Amino acid sequence: MDKAIIAIDGYASTGKSTLSKMLSSHLGLPYIDSGAFFRGITFLALEKGWINNENIYQEAIELGIKDIKIYYNTSDNKLILNEIDITDKIRSKLVSSNVSKIAKLPFVRFFILKQQRLMGNSFGMVMDGRDIGTVVFPNADFKFFFTARPEVRAQRRWEEMKANGYFLSYEEVLKSLMNRDKVDTERKFSPLKKANDAIEIDTSDLSLEEAFTILISKINYK
Ligand code: DC
Repeated sequence: MDKAIIAIDGYASTGKSTLSKMLSSHLGLPYIDSGAFFRGITFLALEKGWINNENIYQEAIELGIKDIKIYYNTSDNKLILNEIDITDKIRSKLVSSNVSKIAKLPFVRFFILKQQRLMGNSFGMVMDGRDIGTVVFPNADFKFFFTARPEVRAQRRWEEMKANGYFLSYEEVLKSLMNRDKVDTERKFSPLKKANDAIEIDTSDLSLEEAFTILISKINYK
């Protein structure tokens, strides 16, 4: 597919990133994980002490991000910050529990928005996130919105974290997920919500293959 923009939004752990990657290789389009950018800034803010416990030093973040170079390498799905690969580090429990606070900040969103639009305009792509179909690419060629029951999402996230060496209880994962949903949907700038023209897919009772078949059929049908 040539230069199409496919926006995949929705709640955490609904299968967005796995299905976006499957779609990207099927259609021959690059895949971009927009959440990785927000996680990257959060990782940096934690390292630099710009967030510490409940304090967020907004001025330090706003000033600090002016000097950084952050990009997503679409050939191997790596997030590079100041020439260092931080792909694994951004999945930690600490980053996950702080990322929503950083993603709320308008100057962080604006900084990332500029990069997202540049990447999309040059190649076409599959991008997943929370506001891709509503704010980043409101004219995307295809828009999907993924949902699933919180218990199913928490179970998936718990299994994923265990496989990556992070040991948390299911209850902790569920609590953190629900908290993230709340902050993401209630924030003032670019909240998580379905675009009017997005196709909603509930993946609670679907296998990856079933969800993928639905995605492809919607794309072929249009
Ligand atoms: O998809 P993820 O779980 O890696 O996203 C991490 C956080 O980043 C999520 O809690 C909300 C935020 N995010 C966002 O606000 N807008 C996006 N387009 C993508 C992610």
